[in-house]
Amino acid sequence: MSRTLGAWDKAKREGRKLSMITAYDFTAARLAEAAGMDAVLIGDSLGMMVGGEADTLSVSLDQMEYHTRIVAKAVSKLLVMADLPFASFEKSPAQAFATATRLLKAGAQIVKLEGGAVMAETVFFLSQRAVPVCGHIGLTPQHVRQIGGFKRQGKTPEAAVKLMEDALALQDAGARMLLMEAIPSDLAAEITARLSIPTIGIGAGPGTDAQVLVFHDVLGLNPDRAPPFAKKYLDGASLLTEALATYAREVRDGSFPA
Ligand code: KIV
Ligand code: NA
Repeated sequence: MSRTLGAWDKAKREGRKLSMITAYDFTAARLAEAAGMDAVLIGDSLGMMVGGEADTLSVSLDQMEYHTRIVAKAVSKLLVMADLPFASFEKSPAQAFATATRLLKAGAQIVKLEGGAVMAETVFFLSQRAVPVCGHIGLTPQHVRQIGGFKRQGKTPEAAVKLMEDALALQDAGARMLLMEAIPSDLAAEITARLSIPTIGIGAGPGTDAQVLVFHDVLGLNPDRAPPFAKKYLDGASLLTEALATYAREVRDGSFPA
């Protein structure tokens, strides 16, 4: 349970792995805390997992603010990270500051934004003004319409060099953490070794300092929508459907209420 950024830095120095899971509501956040996880992420995957959208682009700052508030309220021992949603920060450092501070006021301790070196100026602006930032490189889902799908990144030597440069630029700009999504394991491990800030991986192999997964993927709630790199720890969809079917059947046959 690592509530503070300092605790994350210490874990990296000591080589202790940290666990993070997305949470979009009070109940999920309480489960994550009871399970002894290290962090919750109010991800903009909200739009897909809760909203049923095909990608994250429609998520609004109002939605992120509301979900950050209800998640933050539920936890006291773990780190709370929130995503800056699409089109809420890219225009200028000032726009990013206005957006990020709304999420900090809602209870986030750190905000995450997608983009590499192009975002360094914004990351510097925020980090000089009391806003801790986590970078997000590799597969950046807000760019999915430009990329043309949820595709693995960093596969060519040139792309790998670019990702290393992005990572270093974000760290130099003051980022406190870096998330890497869907990139080769050896590249993620190399970047992790090179950086002094903690790294978080998803679909990036075992070499990062922390791992993150989406709540619904871990619990098997939307098995048809989970990415190939997610690990399912529970067949949640079957178990929950079975319980609901039992309830419906007992109402129909009169055995509930007794
Ligand atoms: O929105 C999200 O859930 C994320 C993680 C998948 C890293 O950004
Ligand atoms: Na996200």
